[in-house]
Amino acid sequence: MNPSNRDRRRLLGLLAAVSGATALGASPVVRAAQRLLTPAQSRGPFYPLEIPLDADNDLVQVSGRTGLARGTLTNIVGRVIDARERPIPAARVEIWQCDANGRYHHPGDRRAAPRDPDFQGYGRMQTGDDGAYRFRTIRPVAYPGRAPHIHFAVSGPGIEPLVTQMYVAGEADNERDFLLGRVRDPQARASLIVELGPDADASAELIGRFDLVLVADGRFARASDDPAYRARFPLVRRNSV
Ligand SMILES: [Fe+2]
Repeated sequence: MNPSNRDRRRLLGLLAAVSGATALGASPVVRAAQRLLTPAQSRGPFYPLEIPLDADNDLVQVSGRTGLARGTLTNIVGRVIDARERPIPAARVEIWQCDANGRYHHPGDRRAAPRDPDFQGYGRMQTGDDGAYRFRTIRPVAYPGRAPHIHFAVSGPGIEPLVTQMYVAGEADNERDFLLGRVRDPQARASLIVELGPDADASAELIGRFDLVLVADGRFARASDDPAYRARFPLVRRNSV
């Protein structure tokens, strides 16, 4: 595409965004900034080399075993949405994290701590029509050099793939975590930190909500790449790690 065509398409995208917002009676700025895009974070070295046979959304029970994973059972729920809170159905959400001993189920993790064989380490599911997802896992624990975190990856037709990490509110290590610290915008950084509290539906389990906000429209993506658009609509740029 030559530059003038590209500029014209960007302008059309911008006009469409502005007119859509105005038609709904909100200021374009408020409308476009309704939800910040979830900042991207490093994939890290421990994404599974091979997806385990049991890769469902319950990470605390491994098929063929009777035990429960060690750690504090924790439900992470949320929705995959775009910046205007439109749900994104049929998105694949993957998570992976270390077990209660701080060990990833990955041959590259050579730490001496024993592995918990009852922890799945990885899980995935697809969002429904409402963009919702849910995982049953353990409260993430710290390991040397990192605050507790859960890795997330979202992919699917028509959406910009997102890889990020979720952190836990109240953890002192959050302040020192070098990856979390790379998200300079305080609001964007806060969007990666999740409050965990008692789960009313499951005694002794915790629950936290983590919405994943991403670009799901090609036109919107092009508009948000435009410096003039970014200056006007304060969406946070992805943190490139
Ligand atoms: Fe990690």
